[in-house]
Amino acid sequence: MVLTRFRLVLAAALIAPFSLVTLCPAQKAKPASHVSHPWDDKTLSPDRRADMVLEQMTLEEKLGMVHGIGWGVLREGAPYPADSNHGAGYVPGIARLGIPKIDLADSAVGVRMSAFDGRYSTLLPSALALASTWDLDAAHLYGEVIGRELRAQGYNMSIGGGMDLTREPRNGRNFEYAGEDPVLAGNMVGRLAMGVQSQHVMGDIKHYALNDQETLRNTINVVMDKRAMRETDLLAFEIAIKMAEPAGVMCSYNKVNGDWACENDYLLNQVLKKDWGFKGWVLSDWEATHSTVKAANAGLDQEMPGEDYFGQKLKDAITARQVSMDRLNDMNHRILRSMFAAGVIDYPIQRSVVDPFKGKEDAQHIAEESIVLLKNEGGQLPLVAGKSRRIALIGGHADVGVLSGGGSAQVDAPGGNAIDPQHGGTVWGKPVYFPSSPMKAIRKLAPSASVTYISGDDTASAATAAKDADVAVVFATQFMTEGADAPTLSLPDEQDALISAVAAANPHTIVVLETGGPVSMPWLANVSAVLAAWYPGIGGGESIADLLFGQANPSAKLPITFAKSESDLPEPNIVGWAERYPTSDNGGPRHAPSVDLHYKDSLAVGYRWYEVNKRQPLFAFGHGLSYTTFQYSTLHVDGQTRTVQFVVTNTGKLPGAEVAQLYVRLPQAAGEPFQRLAGWERVQLASGEKRTITIKLNPAWISTFDDKADRWQLMPGDYGIEVGGASDAISLKGTIHFSE
Ligand code: BGC
Repeated sequence: MVLTRFRLVLAAALIAPFSLVTLCPAQKAKPASHVSHPWDDKTLSPDRRADMVLEQMTLEEKLGMVHGIGWGVLREGAPYPADSNHGAGYVPGIARLGIPKIDLADSAVGVRMSAFDGRYSTLLPSALALASTWDLDAAHLYGEVIGRELRAQGYNMSIGGGMDLTREPRNGRNFEYAGEDPVLAGNMVGRLAMGVQSQHVMGDIKHYALNDQETLRNTINVVMDKRAMRETDLLAFEIAIKMAEPAGVMCSYNKVNGDWACENDYLLNQVLKKDWGFKGWVLSDWEATHSTVKAANAGLDQEMPGEDYFGQKLKDAITARQVSMDRLNDMNHRILRSMFAAGVIDYPIQRSVVDPFKGKEDAQHIAEESIVLLKNEGGQLPLVAGKSRRIALIGGHADVGVLSGGGSAQVDAPGGNAIDPQHGGTVWGKPVYFPSSPMKAIRKLAPSASVTYISGDDTASAATAAKDADVAVVFATQFMTEGADAPTLSLPDEQDALISAVAAANPHTIVVLETGGPVSMPWLANVSAVLAAWYPGIGGGESIADLLFGQANPSAKLPITFAKSESDLPEPNIVGWAERYPTSDNGGPRHAPSVDLHYKDSLAVGYRWYEVNKRQPLFAFGHGLSYTTFQYSTLHVDGQTRTVQFVVTNTGKLPGAEVAQLYVRLPQAAGEPFQRLAGWERVQLASGEKRTITIKLNPAWISTFDDKADRWQLMPGDYGIEVGGASDAISLKGTIHFSE
């Protein structure tokens, strides 16, 4: 009997650890040592739960939450904080209260620095490519991929969600952002952040605000009136923040109207927190904190990545009552409530294996919707397999892969840089190609053709190769990275001359662009087709091939204007370029001169500027062709319900998707003589199919901001309604009247 009991106890002891593992589903498991706390009750609101934790916290614990610890792997020789996941930032948890650490990773276009831990991350198409899809579901999916892979790698916060509007088309980070229109960018980035947070990972939107160029980013002072700010760059943030309620908003490096963005009472306290009701926390960009008392009182909640200002100095300021205890509590409340709201406390992170196949499938789906067919003369595309017997591929390392963007958005390529695999990892400032070979994908789709590749380093041999082929496809690349803007709109490395020489040798020349943003095209009239593939991600090679051969029908539309040349830009020369320290790789050093940046016609951002200044763009905002054709008809507007209705018909022979765009023109009294995007719908239509589209106007997107009264106003009067397939291809026009 005694023996039996002993055996039972032993058996139970042996089985217990295993049964614990099998009984607890991975994402819901609480650690065995978990002590339950009153705030574990999921039926309570995140705010209530945060307050309950806050009541138990010591001063030291509160101070510990409001700054990061160290630089992780970002600085050579810097120690890793114990327990950190080697991402860009880390804030220790409070074990006794069951509050986990915050482990955050850069993840603008996929999780950064995963190779450091021998892990894999999916490289998505650039964020600008995502914006070219105008597909809100694709944006959600994009965020889901990032959130899912962050979780799998042990992170619980994303620092992606780039949102700065394209005011400077040469900006090195445009590929991380969502274009030049506030309504498009706000909606796309908002959905992206929702996708991240759907995975129980905290989301972030950055860089708040007006960090629209890298040149002198650490010192430049953007001077802009409230109306222009609120109706453009800040409107984009407002839309996304209200939609997604992200955990974090990262304030930027630059100054706005004289104050650093991270100690700017107007931006942080008055607009973000008071007007928009943002409940999350403001974290500084890395070393963008410049003070303790001013920053804390202006609304900065957390210094990243270290504790120069929000460590001992904040403690001293609290003791001296220069910063109130209420304010410190508010900082903590914001962080804690965001952790509860996103679910990172209820669903603790459990490392698992990233699924590269699922990642690639998602990336490729987004890429196929994101590649813009800019020109297609005489139906050059799609190519017909079997018809073009000799296809010459030229340049852009199209034999091995596709280009990615650099800086803190750089994702590590599996197997190392495809053009230099023996040197493995990524190096800041060096272009990284991903192993998704357009050549291999094209060979697969055209098995009977002779598909050759030549590097394009030698223009004469490239021209000879083109001459001997039925079709020549030039892959032109432009590497862009955080910390540096492009000096001009031209493709680098004499690729314009290469394309011209190839086009002169072969009348069937197609150009595939892999660029961070818009480029000029002096050769445009001489080539028959152009595809803007941006940085197309890990499925890029296959996506480009599918579109070239009509396996997929292009449906993307430009989220950004392509200018003919620099002389058509608001600033022909980048402001601050001359003052920028020539050897710096990071937008200019912190002691660089502070130059004022007054954007010309600042209210007329992007395509609006071209209209106001009567400049003809090379390709207009919203432009993008398809292999089928669409017709717009039967416009109905209704001022009472504020709706616009119209019919889109696929009049071509192929199925395809159209992004039907709705622009408004405000009443004359508004003093805004330009189009404003007010809505759109992406519709998939079979050949001959028609669809009635109804768009309800959102007053918040077509209002004006009254500086003096400090409020929004929907002007009474007649609004011009314009519907079509691009900002410069308006098919239907009407007027809608709003009374007071
Ligand atoms: C960038 C941020 C990034 C941070 C951490 C900064 O230089 O501006 O976008 O999240 O570094 O890597």
